[in-house]
Amino acid sequence: MKKTLLLWPLLALTACGPSETNSTSVSSSLTPSASDPTSEVGGSTEHSVLVAYYSATGTTEKIAGYIHDGIDSDLFEIVPVDPYTSEDLDYYSGGRCDQENADDSIRPEIVGEIEGMDSYDVIFLGYPIWYGKAPKIIWTFLESYDFSSKVIIPFCTSGSSGISASVSNIQALVPDSTMVEEGRRFSGSSGAAEVVRWAEGQLAAI
Ligand SMILES: Cc1cc2nc3c(=O)[nH]c(=O)nc-3n(C[C@H](O)[C@H](O)[C@H](O)COP(=O)(O)O)c2cc1C
Repeated sequence: MKKTLLLWPLLALTACGPSETNSTSVSSSLTPSASDPTSEVGGSTEHSVLVAYYSATGTTEKIAGYIHDGIDSDLFEIVPVDPYTSEDLDYYSGGRCDQENADDSIRPEIVGEIEGMDSYDVIFLGYPIWYGKAPKIIWTFLESYDFSSKVIIPFCTSGSSGISASVSNIQALVPDSTMVEEGRRFSGSSGAAEVVRWAEGQLAAI
């Protein structure tokens, strides 16, 4: 069964357009029931899949949407409690993002939480590359749940940087028993067919 765990921020983002930042309000609808997150890929029911993503300006969100639409999965948007303004996102300006990048102890807070995280065994984790790595809010996410014996399949978008440094970073933040796949960078112009083909291939290989 396909569920969107955090529907309203997606709608808010759509309404604001890609240059706007995320909303802060908390909705009671963000608590997932996770009653049947079983993935049916190629006709087989093998994995229970969650697509979780952070996206500041909508690029990664589009890729996450393709995955969620293309495979049976639930969707969770990682929304910062303190949303990033355009000023915050102006990197190499000495602003908020630069400061967070320089301080590895910072963990931006996330709106809401995923109930029933235990029921997922595969997490597609999406984010934009910031300073060659995953944004600190992804660090918060990884430290908020027990990823032991889950499979994390990272995906990212970026101006040009690859995904590998961020994947090493993810590996360092989760238990050794977590399988972290090598992941894939997509450009903003990647199409749904390419993205879904990749996602299906990832699931088939687990
Ligand atoms: C704070 C910040 C740091 C960034 N650092 C990089 C970087 O190191 N390498 C790169 O290729 N792109 C970098 N970018 C560009 C984003 O990765 C790129 O625009 C991404 O597709 C945005 O995804 P989103 O729309 O989902 O937020 C950075 C953007 C921001 C806001």
